[in-house]
Amino acid sequence: LPLLLLSLLLLLPGCAEERQQSALHPEGEPAQIIAGLWWFMFYLLGAVFIIVMGVAAWAVFRPRIEPGEGDADEPVGDRFIIVSGIALPSIVLVVLLVYSLTVTVSLRQPDSAVTIEVIGHLWWWEVRYPDHGIITANELHIPAGEPVHLKLSSADVVHSFWVPQLHGKMDMLPDHVNTFWIQAGRPGTYRGQCAEYCGEQHARMSFHVVALERDEFDQWLARRAQPAREPTTDVHRSGQRAFMEAGCNTCHAISGTEAHGRAGPDLTHMGSRPSIGAGQWPNNYANLAGWIANPQSLKPGNHMPRSYLDADELHEITTYLLSLE
Ligand code: CUA
Repeated sequence: LPLLLLSLLLLLPGCAEERQQSALHPEGEPAQIIAGLWWFMFYLLGAVFIIVMGVAAWAVFRPRIEPGEGDADEPVGDRFIIVSGIALPSIVLVVLLVYSLTVTVSLRQPDSAVTIEVIGHLWWWEVRYPDHGIITANELHIPAGEPVHLKLSSADVVHSFWVPQLHGKMDMLPDHVNTFWIQAGRPGTYRGQCAEYCGEQHARMSFHVVALERDEFDQWLARRAQPAREPTTDVHRSGQRAFMEAGCNTCHAISGTEAHGRAGPDLTHMGSRPSIGAGQWPNNYANLAGWIANPQSLKPGNHMPRSYLDADELHEITTYLLSLE
């Protein structure tokens, strides 16, 4: 009964709509291998748990043997201890060891045509495609059905890269590049989350992986490699000017313009991003304007200072950034 209740509890989150971030709903080969190990351990150790509880119950509820009764020459002891105390646990542990070592070997990094560098920041993700000169933030685009090679590091403290549906976790360290890989079996959007406590806004450090068919991915690469689109309307031109005058360009880059800052996310294709604040809010006019006006009220402690723009400047900058697609 306790096991049944426990498994019901474990299954509850599966009823929720949010399957996007569950290692038990794997969507790629490495995550499937890991989920296979998880279920194997769940059933094997569940069986061990039931047996141990059964023996414990038997010990408690069996008929009492009064002193003087029973057969003193026949101790239950020795054989029971050797079989269930030594032999069975040894077999279970060896089986688990062999299976998990096999899993480790089968998760070795395969050859890959795509390399992406991901750099953790307090509290967002810098994403670079070094072979294509693309820099973006808080979203990875990958081709579906192919292993993707990752180079993971950090600009400040230790973070951890985790997309539960696509692979396990890997630390992102300030002074070392960890290599890793992910693979999505089919096109779709998969949520990732920082998996190492990294300060006040650790919980608000998420991102999305968008897996595309190979030809769509190639088109995406070609579009993203272009510099930002030139402002076409007066509002966009004023927005670009206000962006530079307010000093946004000291921290943010927009390729093809005078903005070359590297402290904050690259905004070259800001209008095409689905979310702001590292996966926190949908990227739309109201949210983006609110963020620019006072990012500290939304995500306290982040490195973007409060701005002192008037209403016109705020409107122009927001409109300009949303036009960068
Ligand atoms: Cu970055 Cu937790």
